[in-house]
Amino acid sequence: MNIIVTGGAGFIGGNFMHYMVSKYSNDKIICIDCLTYAGNMETLSPLENKKNYKFIKEDIRNRDNIYKIFEEEKPDIIVNFAAESHVDRSVENPSIFLETNIIGTSVLLDACKKYGIKRFHQVSTDEVYGDLPLDRKDLFFVEDTPLHTSSPYSSSKAAADLLTLAYHRTFKLPVTISRCSNNYGPYHFPEKLIPLIISRALNNEELPVYGKGENIRDWLYVEDHCVAIDLIIRNGKVGEIYNIGGHNEKTNLEVVKTILKELGKSDSLIKFVQDRPGHDLRYAINPEKIQKELAWIPQYNFETGIKKTIKWYLENKTWWEHIVSGEYKNYFNKMYSYRM
Ligand code: NAD
Ligand code: DAU
Repeated sequence: MNIIVTGGAGFIGGNFMHYMVSKYSNDKIICIDCLTYAGNMETLSPLENKKNYKFIKEDIRNRDNIYKIFEEEKPDIIVNFAAESHVDRSVENPSIFLETNIIGTSVLLDACKKYGIKRFHQVSTDEVYGDLPLDRKDLFFVEDTPLHTSSPYSSSKAAADLLTLAYHRTFKLPVTISRCSNNYGPYHFPEKLIPLIISRALNNEELPVYGKGENIRDWLYVEDHCVAIDLIIRNGKVGEIYNIGGHNEKTNLEVVKTILKELGKSDSLIKFVQDRPGHDLRYAINPEKIQKELAWIPQYNFETGIKKTIKWYLENKTWWEHIVSGEYKNYFNKMYSYRM
């Protein structure tokens, strides 16, 4: 099979590329990525000599070029990871989120409709459900929880989900959607909480925690997400949505303190800073559907996953040091100057 993975030079797409290229030597795994600030060829460099790997630098918004790629590569399956993915950036500048996450997805859906495919899989997020209260631990997101987005990012992802479902209903396009909770693991860009804390703690820099650090996220080790998507594209039912999560709810403060303990660093590095506008309180996934229908079981809990992640950041310093020593410095100064 020919499988196109969009956004494969990013965090989760990059991990998915590694997973698929090593697992399916008889399939051709083609990455399409336009290499925004979040796309990194160093993430894909270990795959360069693999026969079943191909990289195409392209923007999913470029209709003509995406159609040409479909003509040439004749993909069977498309897995769409390509997106602007950082909530804080969407608060600063929503428009690129609408362009990539909505228009880009619509170009891919049109290409699938025009050329015919076996499956279009949209990688979505639990953020489309909005948030849950901190004091109702009995509540979880299920697949038919109403969409109730908070940020320009999550709104653009919800729009893409609705478009995807519309192409299924109207044009009978064989689609599936997955909505996963917060991922962490190797190749995670250090603007997101966990890699930001690890990289800054290792440099003994202040660690910005929004508000009181009470917000809760449901953390999943990225490899477990990759396994789930692989199961969905092969065995998932067309037209269906699957929630993915492993019941690893932690407050942000718990996450930061766990990392500091693992690294042998002091809690005094923590600095409580101005909160994110519209900050979602709690995410929590009910993963029963994917567990029952596709026999998906996560291999890692937060304790084992965070140890593995920290080990990776310690052993792969050049990967993240190239990022934090470059343009990223300007980003950090701009985004955090009014907060800290
Ligand atoms: P990321 O920001 O690390 O990577 C996004 C990738 O998409 C980058 O390589 C970037 O260059 C590429 N890209 C952006 N715009 C593009 C365009 N117009 N054309 C082609 N490529 C483009 O994101 P991530 O954290 O790996 O998330 C991947 C997907 O998973 C996103 O769709 C996101 O909404 C979803 N998701 C993320 C998480 C999480 O915790 N990170 C959880 C659930 C769902
Ligand atoms: O739930 C899935 C979503 O998880 C994905 O759809 C998004 O693409 C992904 O970025 C992630 O969104 P979050 O906003 O939850 O992730 P982030 O790492 O930005 O923040 C995690 C929590 O940590 C959140 O409550 C905000 C807080 N935070 C974040 C940063 C960057 C801080 O306290 N300090 C920080 O400096």
